[in-house]
Amino acid sequence: MSEPLRLGIAGLGTVGIGVVKIVQRHARLLARRAGRDISISAVCARSRDKDRGVRLGDYVWEDDPVALAKRDDVDVFVELMGGADGPAKAATEAAIASGKDVVTANKAMMAHHGQALAIAAEAQGHVIRFEAAVAGGIPVVKALCEGLAGNEISRVMGVLNGTCNYILTRMQAEGLSYGEVFKAADELGYLEADPNLDVGGIDAGHKLALLAAIAFGTQVAFEAMELEGIERITIEDIELAADMGFRIKLLCVAQMTGRGLEQRTSPCLVPASSPLGQLENATNMVVLEGDSVGQIVLRGAGAGQGPTASAVMGDIVDLARGFRVSTFGQPAASLAKPNPASSSVPAPYYLRMSLQDKPGALAKIATVLGDAGISIDRMRQYRHVDPTAPVLIVTHKTSGSALRDAVAAMAGTNVLAGEPVAIRIEAV
Ligand SMILES: NC(=O)c1ccc[n+]([C@@H]2O[C@H](COP(=O)([O-])OP(=O)(O)OC[C@H]3O[C@@H](n4cnc5c(N)ncnc54)[C@H](OP(=O)(O)O)[C@@H]3O)[C@@H](O)[C@H]2O)c1
Repeated sequence: MSEPLRLGIAGLGTVGIGVVKIVQRHARLLARRAGRDISISAVCARSRDKDRGVRLGDYVWEDDPVALAKRDDVDVFVELMGGADGPAKAATEAAIASGKDVVTANKAMMAHHGQALAIAAEAQGHVIRFEAAVAGGIPVVKALCEGLAGNEISRVMGVLNGTCNYILTRMQAEGLSYGEVFKAADELGYLEADPNLDVGGIDAGHKLALLAAIAFGTQVAFEAMELEGIERITIEDIELAADMGFRIKLLCVAQMTGRGLEQRTSPCLVPASSPLGQLENATNMVVLEGDSVGQIVLRGAGAGQGPTASAVMGDIVDLARGFRVSTFGQPAASLAKPNPASSSVPAPYYLRMSLQDKPGALAKIATVLGDAGISIDRMRQYRHVDPTAPVLIVTHKTSGSALRDAVAAMAGTNVLAGEPVAIRIEAV
């Protein structure tokens, strides 16, 4: 058997300890599969005294992740601290400069610096693997880089933030408000330290930007993403959408259009009967569409110790086998600069508004839509909630810009109480 593959693990929290547990529990299974032992040389975290519930005494302890990354007895630097910048980036750069491969679960770092880090690593004949950074235990990076390598990918879609899906499905199932379920999610420890990363769509956007780079052979372009979170979704929208046969999801969509790369993370309506519509709680789902394969759907745990560590180990076993696929499935230096396009693909829209109880109010709204070239597919008027009546309109396909213009023009009709809510309906 060849020499062992020696790991240096920085970060012994949820994911890091999960990786230590797998290395310890499955030592023989991993050695059989990789053709060599996989061992841990050194570890690092902030607090040395914390009881982490696993045996760590056999490993060298480093206080400084950069020192760990440079150690001669470390072949692969495993970055599991988190954070786009700071120690995670500094230690990853140090590992690359010392000629090591890197495995990370850090979507924020990869979304902001993945391009530069991958170029630096690949210039040295090494790679950064980041399966765990996208959709936790679902091997979607591998699916795109390897299994689907013979396809031209037309669209990547998914529910990539389990916390948002948990909030939306509990609102739906129990008729609770956004605020009530947000509080429950916080108490369960589901939210990031900065909750805006979850509910503002940023975490899901980081993941989509990484998938889009692999799928379309383009440089990671998180800053060009259209981002909208779930904070403004009300129980009223969830119930009315359900009444029309839809579910509201925080949907990530990337597609290459004639005008350029469209990347959006935003609340969308999807048919309740579709796989995405039926996705419940904190589960993730990725839908991939390729010219030869058609559509495939991957579903599984998007976070948690076991699933995330499983993805980290998949990358480590690949490296132990000597398998080094480029970080983004092709050399990072060959990734094209994307031309960002904003929601250019037309779609039907859900429009909810409160109409004042005035004669001809609905006709005025229909006229505004007609003037903008938007036709109505379905419409429902609900019982008056004095002095207004909720009205729901599902439009035929229209562009996002035509819809925005129409919504702006509705303000001039003087028949609305409050702002209309417009949500895109995605064909899935
Ligand atoms: N948790 C998940 O389900 C999940 C899923 C997918 C991806 N990820 C990603 O995986 C990474 C780790 O997440 P996690 O949930 O395991 O985080 P975590 O539980 O907060 O653990 C972070 C670890 O990093 C250590 N650390 C932080 N700053 C450090 C520093 N300056 N020097 C040395 N060690 C430092 C901490 O040390 P102490 O323990 O001493 O404080 C802790 O052990 C993140 O990038 C996250 O986005 C997590």
